[in-house]
Amino acid sequence: MTPPTPVVELVRASFAYEDGPAVLTDVGLAVPEGRAVALLGRNGGGKTTLLRLLSGGLRCGSGALLLDGAEVTYDRKGLTRLRTSVQLVVQDPDDQLFAASVAQDVSFGPMNLGLPEDEVRLRVTEALEALDITALADRPTHLLSYGQRKRAAIAGAVAMRPRVLIMDEPTAGLDPHGQERLLETLERLRAAGTTVVMATHDVDLALRWADEAAVLSPAGLRTGPAAGLLADDALLDAARLRRPWAVSVGRLLRSRGLLPEGAPGPRTAEELDALLDRVG
Ligand SMILES: Nc1ncnc2c1ncn2[C@@H]1O[C@H](COP(=O)(O)OP(=O)(O)OP(=O)(O)O)[C@@H](O)[C@H]1O
Ligand SMILES: [Mg+2]
Repeated sequence: MTPPTPVVELVRASFAYEDGPAVLTDVGLAVPEGRAVALLGRNGGGKTTLLRLLSGGLRCGSGALLLDGAEVTYDRKGLTRLRTSVQLVVQDPDDQLFAASVAQDVSFGPMNLGLPEDEVRLRVTEALEALDITALADRPTHLLSYGQRKRAAIAGAVAMRPRVLIMDEPTAGLDPHGQERLLETLERLRAAGTTVVMATHDVDLALRWADEAAVLSPAGLRTGPAAGLLADDALLDAARLRRPWAVSVGRLLRSRGLLPEGAPGPRTAEELDALLDRVG
């Protein structure tokens, strides 16, 4: 069986900022439709740069960006096609928010798609609810707290209902409740077929949430099932990542004979609880 065509893909992509050293060299990243992909790596490792290449904001020096298997052209038509499919939520919400109020900001994208007013209103209501910021709809964006601005910026992308939602450290600065709400929202989007790519430093979240991981280290980009890559000590060290809590627990359970060798460990406290119930 041939694997499905990735929805977006970077092929042998290299990139350097003007007059700067290479940030990414010969990087390949295929994002399969409907999957959840976590991008991890050290500060300055190139995550933001990679996400900007993947969403068309930057253009790779060599290599190519493919959408549904076809090379993206960086003219108006090509970029419009890309932007209606792929939405990026940038790392700093202040780089994203610009309208006077939260509701205006979130409505901007859907309005630009030329959607009827009712549809725009519906999408804004849904997106504000999903990010738990309905009460902030009429608040000026510049008066919001950092976490509130972060949620507003994510709501703006969610309201676009993209096929691929790319988020640069979306949970940074969110309180635990906000993180859980965001994960619930992402689960719903995924159930509806949305592909989600997220850069994060949170290995526990990546293991729990992602199907695939993409880990940037000085040796390049490694991709594969999240459970495998996030249990690779050498890779975690090279990327300056902590070992996920669940990986440590899985090893402990195996060493005590409570989990067979090769069996996946629990990824959450609830899974650990269920496993301990089973082994009595
Ligand atoms: N606009 C820019 N001009 C020049 N160099 C840049 C620019 N943006 C980023 N860089 C450099 O490119 C490299 C990769 O940065 P990038 O922001 O992609 O890393 P990152 O993995 O997202 O880091 P972080 O975890 O801190 O968000 C860094 O060395 C950074 O200094
Ligand atoms: Mg970054």
